[in-house]
Amino acid sequence: MRDELLSPDPTPDDLELELADDAGLRPRRLEDFVGQGELKEHLAIILEAARRRGQAVDHLLFAGPPGLGKTTLAAIVAVEMGVTLHVTSGPALERAGDLAAILTRLDEGDVLFIDEIHRLSRNVEEVLYPAMEDFQLDIVLGKGPAARSIRLDLPRFTLVGATTRTGLITGPLRDRFGLVARLDYYTAPELEAIVNRAAGILGVAVDADGAAEIARRARGTPRIANRLLRRVRDFAEVRGDGAVDTATARDGLALFGVDDLGLDKVDRAILAAVCERFGGGPVGLSTLAISVGEATETVEDVYEPFLIQQGLLMRTPRGRVAMPAAWRHLGLAAPPGAPLVAADEPPSLFG
Ligand SMILES: Nc1ncnc2c1ncn2[C@@H]1O[C@H](COP(=O)(O)OP(=O)(O)OP(=O)(O)O)[C@@H](O)[C@H]1O
Ligand SMILES: [Mg+2]
Repeated sequence: MRDELLSPDPTPDDLELELADDAGLRPRRLEDFVGQGELKEHLAIILEAARRRGQAVDHLLFAGPPGLGKTTLAAIVAVEMGVTLHVTSGPALERAGDLAAILTRLDEGDVLFIDEIHRLSRNVEEVLYPAMEDFQLDIVLGKGPAARSIRLDLPRFTLVGATTRTGLITGPLRDRFGLVARLDYYTAPELEAIVNRAAGILGVAVDADGAAEIARRARGTPRIANRLLRRVRDFAEVRGDGAVDTATARDGLALFGVDDLGLDKVDRAILAAVCERFGGGPVGLSTLAISVGEATETVEDVYEPFLIQQGLLMRTPRGRVAMPAAWRHLGLAAPPGAPLVAADEPPSLFG
């Protein structure tokens, strides 16, 4: 079962709603966006250059695990350029006509945000190529022998794509983006700044140590930081006087199943499965996913990247392997026969 509290994946039915929601926590301007310093600098230059030339911004692709700010950045691009943001997603664009309908609604310079762009179907993707490159749309009118194709000029727009899986983006699509940026997990100080900013907006009294404690356990993810802050606030209001310090944060997070490293129930279940059920691995991804009752993609996109980044889990050609830190974290002794990981296999975030 999904843990709605801890899962970094929002599974929004309606992305527009997701954008409007969020109690005003989503930064609207680039200067309010915490962290991702290098990406922010690149973006600032690209936006400024486009502004000076009076042109639409080049197409942008943001990749990275859920909750790191891809949707937020797409919205920021539109705000900074003073244009309208149109939101859709790969799975929502079933037929070429769905995309055509959206493209013909765009105004000059508008931002079209396609979330989960790696899930676009082939024929939709083929309509997208000339639209991105030449701002042209080929439409087939009618059926059978009477069918004819007309070519429409589109306004110059900016496509912003988001994906949790760069590996699944086809080469031709990827090549049509002017910038392919990968978002990394946030550092503890960055998450602290995000917690403090959110606490200010939500009106929660949190002291420096309390904010640090929440930040430390936020799995490197702003969305989780904000969510944990809300839960700790609830805890502080019900069990305390509403103020959040280290002890409140620690007790509140423990109550909601977030451990010292910020791992949630599913994270721990994954590590426990690899260590206890499969002797430390290597174990194949689908076997692992089944044994924790999650979808393969969820394990791969949502849970694994952080476990790998933390040095708990490793991806090898033969499957997932528990690192010594995983055994330690679970309070288990690695058996002498536990697989050793070759030092020349670098940890990889994205397969
Ligand atoms: N750099 C940041 N500074 C402050 N808050 C942030 C930042 N990045 C993200 N957030 C907060 O985290 C939330 C999640 O971000 P966002 O929805 O942009 O993630 P995402 O990468 O699009 O995730 P998904 O892949 O699940 O769609 C936002 O609502 C926002 O409040
Ligand atoms: Mg998003």
